[in-house]
Formats: sequence, C-alpha cells, structure tokens
Amino acid sequence: MSKPVYIRNLRQDDLPAIVDIEDRTTGVSRKPYWQKRIEMSEAIRPHWTSLVAESDNRVVGFVFGRAGELEFGLPGTVAWIEIIGVDPAYRHCGIGAKLLEQFSSSAEDHGIQTIFTVIDKNNTDMERFFTRIGFSEGEMVHFQKTLKT
Ligand SMILES: CC(C)(COP(=O)(O)OP(=O)(O)OC[C@H]1O[C@@H](n2cnc3c(N)ncnc32)[C@H](O)[C@@H]1OP(=O)(O)O)[C@@H](O)C(=O)NCCC(=O)NCCS
Repeated sequence: MSKPVYIRNLRQDDLPAIVDIEDRTTGVSRKPYWQKRIEMSEAIRPHWTSLVAESDNRVVGFVFGRAGELEFGLPGTVAWIEIIGVDPAYRHCGIGAKLLEQFSSSAEDHGIQTIFTVIDKNNTDMERFFTRIGFSEGEMVHFQKTLKT
C-alpha cells in the first residue's frame, strides 16, 4: 500500500531536507546556495511555484519553479520548472508526479497555459519521467556559448 503524500508550499525550515536530498542525489552539498534560493522564492516568487512533498512526517521531494510574462518572445505568462528532486528512498512512488500535478493545477488556476522545463538530452530518466507525466519536446531551441575562464 502506498504511503500518504502531502504537497504543500515551500517554507524556510525545509532547507536541511532539500540540502540533504540534493546531497544524496548528486554528492554535492550546497547549503548557502539553497538558503539564498529559498529566501528568493519566499520573497519574490509566487508561492505556488515552489513546493515540497511530505511523507512519513518529513520532506521527501521538492520542486522549484517560477512564472514569467512575455519571456523569450513567448506570448502571455508561462511557468518554468527549474529543479525537481525526490529523495532516492522515495522514488517511483508517484511523488515527482504529484509535485508536478499540484504545480500544473496552480499554474492553470493562474491562467497559465504552458509549462516549460529544460533537461539534459542524455538524461533518459528525466526524459521518461517528463514524457510519462504529459510533457513533450517543444519548439524552442537552446543556444549556448562557452566563455574563456
Ligand atoms: C525524476 C524524479 C523527480 C522522478 O521522481 P519520482 O517520484 O521517482 O517519479 P514518479 O514516481 O512520480 O514517476 C512518474 C513516472 O515517471 C517515470 N519515471 C520516473 N522515474 C523514472 C526513471 N528514473 N526512469 C524512467 N522513468 C521514470 C515512470 O514512468 C513513472 O510512472 P510509473 O511509476 O507509473 O511507471 C526523481 O527520479 C529525481 O529526483 N531524480 C533526480 C533529479 C535530479 O537530479 N534533481 C536535481 C538534484 S536533487
């Protein structure tokens, strides 16, 4: 039987859990980065764009996003998913999908019709995840330039 999962808006005291999930996913611990990022989210972003998932009375997943108006020549307001992470011990239980269901339904409530994200083209897991929850490859092309350091 799957455990209950509760999705809510991000809070400042979610910092240790988010740092820990990223650390156990990537091996990199970035507390000062996440502290700033959470402060920024709390201060200037719509609250519905940054969410956490709780199960067993602890944070087991998060998503950070934002909403932008008339960006990159796109009409209206669009939502962006910038980073999503689920605790490795809680993956494949529908938590990532639940986080993005809540994100999408809040975006709809705010009159937003399109959600964007960017993934590494070699990351087939992320590709499968986003495809499974209804995303498909878009029309925009990503450009980049490498600078001398
Ligand atoms: C991608 C990620 C968010 C998915 O979270 P999750 O809670 O495990 O996903 P769900 O259980 O909601 O999966 C929904 C569907 O996506 C697909 N899916 C999920 N993870 C997948 C994977 N690793 N490979 C292939 N398909 C996957 C499955 O089809 C799944 O549906 P199903 O279980 O009915 O088959 C999670 O694996 C993750 O956090 N990965 C690391 C991402 C990262 O590097 N973030 C930055 C640092 S924290």
